[in-house]
Amino acid sequence: SKGCKLVGTGSAVPSFQVSNDDLAKIVDTNDEWISVRTGIRNRRVLTGKESLVALAAEAARKALQMAEVEPDDVDLVLMCTSTPEDLFGSAPQIQKALGCKTNPLAYDITAACSGFILGLVSAACHIRGGGFQNVLVIGADSLSRYVDWTDRGSCILFGDAAGAVLVQACDSEDDGLFSFDLHSDGDGKRHLNASMEENEENEVDHASGSNGSVLSFPPKRSSYSCIQMNGKEVFRFAVRCVPQSIESALEKAGLTGSSIDWLLLHQANQRILDAVASRLEVPPERVISNLANYGNTSAASIPLALDEAVRSGKVKAGHTIAAAGFGAGLTWGSAILRW
Ligand code: ACO
Repeated sequence: SKGCKLVGTGSAVPSFQVSNDDLAKIVDTNDEWISVRTGIRNRRVLTGKESLVALAAEAARKALQMAEVEPDDVDLVLMCTSTPEDLFGSAPQIQKALGCKTNPLAYDITAACSGFILGLVSAACHIRGGGFQNVLVIGADSLSRYVDWTDRGSCILFGDAAGAVLVQACDSEDDGLFSFDLHSDGDGKRHLNASMEENEENEVDHASGSNGSVLSFPPKRSSYSCIQMNGKEVFRFAVRCVPQSIESALEKAGLTGSSIDWLLLHQANQRILDAVASRLEVPPERVISNLANYGNTSAASIPLALDEAVRSGKVKAGHTIAAAGFGAGLTWGSAILRW
């Protein structure tokens, strides 16, 4: 069967920076508490009319430049986001911003902090089974738009960013996407969600609705609640499920924790990174971490950290990476890849 490999990375972050001290001005917290519990010191936030689509397109453009691939040669754009600027999907707007004249297929993938891993899997399926050649996988989120800025337990964690990789078809002997392991558990929604708000006007009496009489019409416009999170439960979930998932993906690839070059986890919290690494017996110097500067950027965090590690020369050609995403849904999953 066909192989697929990663041939370019790119990222982009908003310029507006919010430090822990800045947060201490709006909620009852302090730099020390946040740094010790999370490892996070700064995060970036989209302001005013800044657009996530523009940020995602910038990241995608950089990935294409690194790969030396023209926008017209892209045949699929996957936008992994849970904060689209259009309820119907953002990906076609990125395709437009890139100026692809060939009208490549573009669609969104919604899986919160696991979105990018799901995007990689989808890219591989489209390449192996669908004959696609150049697939842009973009992870981009602006959770700042849904954070409850009065909740000190969650608002300190999140930031906005975009990251992208170009996945390209290749001969099977050059394959760089070795194995996956993917899961979800809808029962865990109560621990982390930003759900549609229930409003009574939207409740249609189906019994009477079927014969034409509806309680309230027209229905009220729907809206979403802020992010609601039980931090302790999410922490426990991540530390329990992520090592298992990575182990099973490693096993499928015939590898072990000690044989990988890099552990690249969704950048949620340094304590989660440390705990997962220690369970897998991966030494700290082989764990990629940039969350001090950006916080938890949801679907963007893995490609953002990968891009930094590639451009700084940390991740070199031929290196093996165990990547894992985890978050709302709940969803979690791992991918073993070679740069
Ligand atoms: N500053 C100061 N004190 C705080 C803050 C804050 N920002 N937040 C909470 N506290 C207080 C609490 O009120 C509590 O006080 P109390 O003991 O008087 O009641 C105390 O600190 C301890 O609070 P906990 O919530 O028990 O703190 P914990 O050690 O669990 O750390 C944290 C909280 C950092 C949120 C941690 O649970 C965590 O990181 N969990 C994972 C969350 C996560 O990664 N979520 C995103 C997943 S990805 C996605 O899909 C979006």
